[in-house]
Amino acid sequence: VDVLLDRLREIVGPLHVLVDADVRASYEVDWTGRFAGSTPAVVRPGTTSELAAVVVACAESRRAIVPQGGNTGLVGGSVPLHGEIVVSTRRLDRLGDVDVVAGEVTAGAGVTLDRLQDHARRAGLAFGVDLAARQSATVGGMVATNAGGLNFVRHGGMRQQLVGIEAVMADGSVVSRLERPPKDNTGYDLAQLLCGSEGTLGVVTAARVQLVPSPESTVTALAAVPDLTAAVTAINRLRDRGVPVQAAEGFFDEGMALVCGHLGLTRPLAPSPAYLLVEWEGVADAFALTGLDDAVLAVDDHRRAELWRFREAHTESVNTLGIPHKLDVAVTPSKLDELVRQVRATVAGMAPDAVLVLFGHVADGNVHVNVVGPDPDDDRLDDAIVAVVLAMGGSISAEHGIGTAKRAWLGLARSSAELNVYRRVKRALDPDGILNPHVLL
Ligand code: FAD
Ligand code: MLT
Ligand code: ZN
Repeated sequence: VDVLLDRLREIVGPLHVLVDADVRASYEVDWTGRFAGSTPAVVRPGTTSELAAVVVACAESRRAIVPQGGNTGLVGGSVPLHGEIVVSTRRLDRLGDVDVVAGEVTAGAGVTLDRLQDHARRAGLAFGVDLAARQSATVGGMVATNAGGLNFVRHGGMRQQLVGIEAVMADGSVVSRLERPPKDNTGYDLAQLLCGSEGTLGVVTAARVQLVPSPESTVTALAAVPDLTAAVTAINRLRDRGVPVQAAEGFFDEGMALVCGHLGLTRPLAPSPAYLLVEWEGVADAFALTGLDDAVLAVDDHRRAELWRFREAHTESVNTLGIPHKLDVAVTPSKLDELVRQVRATVAGMAPDAVLVLFGHVADGNVHVNVVGPDPDDDRLDDAIVAVVLAMGGSISAEHGIGTAKRAWLGLARSSAELNVYRRVKRALDPDGILNPHVLL
């Protein structure tokens, strides 16, 4: 390792090879505290060519690497669980000028989501993906996980925003295809192949992304609903009348109580079994279309952000209870209440003392299942919930990816023919298993 570390210091400069235990610490554990490992060094290249040289040096020493952006991933894919070298992309943080005609911009992998959003806003545009970890999550990490988030209902996820990519492959070669004309059918789409590959096929160094028009006026409503079917019906009523719904989030009273307790907030509404936070572009009057009555509406940014806190603070509030079992599942929206009923029954039967907090992106049929109580290393409850989801024809990972946390269940979600193709792709692009070898497959 010492020879490798000297070589890495030559490449990126000694200041950017972090070896002190206390400096490495935050790179070695994931956001939930569930996944912790150790690394000989965190390397912080400042350019694409430095990053390429780092990959070559690690490959020559047969040392695997874990690419890391903001380390906000929720499936244990961004931390060195097997002594890998951590390659942090945070210094690759250049933002190009916005091409306002094409509505596109190139961002370095280390650009955080909030910076990209600000940059787009200053050009009179917006970025189509948003999520609560916006101050830390990076463009590279969001591409690598194909992040979904809060505006998926309107704009889709990272895959839909991705125009082009620059990446370092396992052999140190750099593929770069950022700007391109609107039409271009010249071979495999490497940007889309790397999107969602979770650092297993290449290290993203920059991405060119599509921007979207900035909404003229946004209305946020937090409404009481009896169940998620009522929430989905309300959203559909808006959409059927052509109202551009930008976000549609659901959560339950246990989550509302938890968040209010954690942040010291007063409940915005009388207690209700469930809540819908729905946001659309347009005027407040459109709320009448939902058919709901008990609601708080906000139009100015400050009040809207206050309403969002009740939903966005779920993740951090759950963390205060202990290390959660986290599942990120999806079913077709008409089955959401049945999913919730079965998950509740499964947890009540197997772990009656556990705290169960459910919330998610209702319009996408996506529910985040958080269970605190059972030993984090005991997967029996997770197995049972996964079985429920699969029996309903659902997805066992709707937006967070597979990482190391969900690897055991990948074979239940993908056929052996598909997995064979995955393995052949991985072997072709990374024959020595240098890039995140313990993630996904
Ligand atoms: P990291 O955590 O650093 O890495 C994630 C994965 O990508 C790892 O496998 C890593 O090896 C790989 N990777 C990172 N950078 C690169 C790169 N440059 N090249 C190749 N591989 C790379 N996710 C959603 O989809 N929707 C949400 O609504 C959402 N909300 C969240 C809210 C909170 C409070 C938190 C903590 C997380 C949330 N997440 C959400 C999960 C997470 O923020 C996203 O997955 C995000 O895309 C990860 O970005 P990151 O830069 O932190 O990546
Ligand atoms: C969210 O939607 O807030 C997330 O994906 C984070 C989580 O699942 O905790
Ligand atoms: Zn989510």
